[in-house]
Amino acid sequence: MKDIINKNHEGDCIKIMGDLPKGKIHLVLTDPPYNASNGGVNLPNNKTGGAYYKVNEKWDKFSYEDYMDFTKKWIDEADKILAPNGSMMICGSLHNIGEVIIALKDKGYKFINLITWRKTNPMPSITKRTLTHSTEFIAWFAKGKGWKFNYNNMKKYNQGKQLRDVWEFSVCQGSERIKGENGRAAHPTQKPLELFTRLIEMATDEGDIVIDPFMGSGTTALASMQLNRNWIGIDNNKEYIDLANKRVNNHKKDTKLKEYC
Ligand SMILES: C[S@@+](CC[C@H](N)C(=O)[O-])C[C@H]1O[C@@H](n2cnc3c(N)ncnc32)[C@H](O)[C@@H]1O
Repeated sequence: MKDIINKNHEGDCIKIMGDLPKGKIHLVLTDPPYNASNGGVNLPNNKTGGAYYKVNEKWDKFSYEDYMDFTKKWIDEADKILAPNGSMMICGSLHNIGEVIIALKDKGYKFINLITWRKTNPMPSITKRTLTHSTEFIAWFAKGKGWKFNYNNMKKYNQGKQLRDVWEFSVCQGSERIKGENGRAAHPTQKPLELFTRLIEMATDEGDIVIDPFMGSGTTALASMQLNRNWIGIDNNKEYIDLANKRVNNHKKDTKLKEYC
């Protein structure tokens, strides 16, 4: 395991997870392709990739049947490497959350919570033919009965009271949004770091191993490092692997600097 953890691995996650040791992972936290790219909207003045950008990526386009098949396949591999008391937390929107839930229910997982992320700065409905889409979801499923839940610790996010299942965060923008040399978002779907930190804190302890088979810009790695968890990242796009590695290395440098000062 030593050679594998706290690293990003480039390649197809189904293949890479198939080669990992079985039953060792405590949390699968991931933001897979949503199958939401159906044309995109070109908004030339948008620089951030944030509020007025519609995701339109090759890796995010499937037929319904292919998406269901892909979801089942990667969840099958994730299930084999998950510890008996492990959890899966999978992000989604109206485009894909149904397929994710069906795949996990089919595997006999226990549905713990459907967390709603309410966006404080959602993208407006450009066509004006729908309500503004202002939510995404995180489906939290447990493999067995003994899942971890740091119940008391979570109360700090609700003034000392039980934490509810609707959380507010803004879409990643401003200084948090990583930009490429052209000034545009370096990754089209970078998730808020605070959202991922809270999810990891909720269902793991220090030293546990978190895997993200669709690591993108490295948000799961960063959140894990901040909380002293081990992590494994996978992405099949070299540019994103480089980006995630850069974020990881910058975080390591910042931490060293803080220790030194
Ligand atoms: C929704 S994005 C993840 C974004 C990430 N949560 C972040 O904060 O940056 C999904 C990622 O999955 C990657 N991907 C798509 N298909 C894959 C596959 N079969 N194996 C590994 N990675 C894949 C894409 O390159 C993309 O970076």
